[in-house]
Amino acid sequence: MLSREDNELITRTGPGTPMGNVFREYWLPAMLSKELPSPDCDPVRVMLLGEKLIAFRDSNGKVGLLQNHCPHRGASLFFGRNEESGLRCVYHGWKFSVDGTCVDMPNEPAESDFKSKVKAVAYPCVERGGVVWTYMGPRSVPPPLPDFEPNMMPNSADTVWVTQHECNWLQVLEGDIDTIHINFLHGGSRKDGRQRTAEFLAVDTDAGAIYTAYKPFGEDEVNYRIGYFLLPCFSMAPPGRLGIRIAGIARVPIDDEHTLSFGMSPHAGQGEVGQVASAEARRTNSFGSNGTGNPVQPPTTDWYGRFRAVANMRNDFLIDREVQRRNEGGAGYTGIQGIGVQDMAVTTSMGSIYDRTQERLGTTDTMVIKVRRRLISVARALAEQGITPPGVDNPDMYAVRSGWVNLPKESHWLNDTVDLRKAFVDHPELADALQAPSV
Ligand code: FES
Ligand SMILES: [Fe+2]
Repeated sequence: MLSREDNELITRTGPGTPMGNVFREYWLPAMLSKELPSPDCDPVRVMLLGEKLIAFRDSNGKVGLLQNHCPHRGASLFFGRNEESGLRCVYHGWKFSVDGTCVDMPNEPAESDFKSKVKAVAYPCVERGGVVWTYMGPRSVPPPLPDFEPNMMPNSADTVWVTQHECNWLQVLEGDIDTIHINFLHGGSRKDGRQRTAEFLAVDTDAGAIYTAYKPFGEDEVNYRIGYFLLPCFSMAPPGRLGIRIAGIARVPIDDEHTLSFGMSPHAGQGEVGQVASAEARRTNSFGSNGTGNPVQPPTTDWYGRFRAVANMRNDFLIDREVQRRNEGGAGYTGIQGIGVQDMAVTTSMGSIYDRTQERLGTTDTMVIKVRRRLISVARALAEQGITPPGVDNPDMYAVRSGWVNLPKESHWLNDTVDLRKAFVDHPELADALQAPSV
């Protein structure tokens, strides 16, 4: 349970808010590269952290993210002409390059130097692994991109998926670190007698927090499920065996009531993390496979028109009560098809901005509590003392892996998994375990 003030602090990310300012210190995924398929293609409306922006790819292939309203008299640059290395406002012809420089001002006298005094807000963009990242922060030289392995694999661009959630970013993220729900929401119809409770431990890390949910495995071993939260909005839930499975998600605020999820799972389609990326989901999602089995609608040019889920609150996430009654299979417990849709149904149903003043947290909410505390302290430290949030200048802090592992009883879940939790490390000794079932 949080105070109203703290709940506001960590959920509000609009311009000028403490949490919004925290987000603006980091590079954030903004869109997929393929949303801007070719030089001089159609501009795209993109809202991020409550700010309306226009994305375009110039004649040289460079991506720009400009303020929506033209600096002249405010017409939307969405209607702009994307031509000859710049976006030209159709109202009076002012033209802007990807860095916001006004490169042409045809309605002013030729001898005027007014254009050199005008600059559009433009956020630097970098493309990596099929994702356009942007930096919306105060520095003139942005910090380095995080070493986020799921976005840096050879096939990253083919396996990234995006879905929009019609709710606040934090309740989506809290679903990632609330690992116990898997046994109910996604696996409640299992009748194999598998233990549904677990012990929990969570500790702060340099750039976020790490948790384990653990339970006995046989006589001599313990099964640990290990996952990360990484500031400001990244999570790494256990995608499979620790050391050989790579996956992570970014939960990026569109505004306070809409969130864009970027799932990066370079194993999609190979089982475990990708097992729910059904052929149907791949067909229906014009932007590629959706790793959570939640197909998205074709894009519209609306501010909220990108990656809207087919199953959503207005159709009750296509719940089938008959399936729910039968209680068989992956969709049996909920009657809702697809892990991602199940997640979306419950997190959206909490309300567009969940009121954390009314809840009752139990022992399995340890990580949720830990992450909220961290967010509160990071937001306050920046707002009150100007302290740069953790990880901004340390890309290596993001080079981690999550997963499950069985360890002898006497082992320590952190000390004895240091190597397995490192990104960019090969583990040939685990090759045989690649197809091992998840525990
Ligand atoms: S409003 Fe854009 S050029 Fe005048
Ligand atoms: Fe889930």
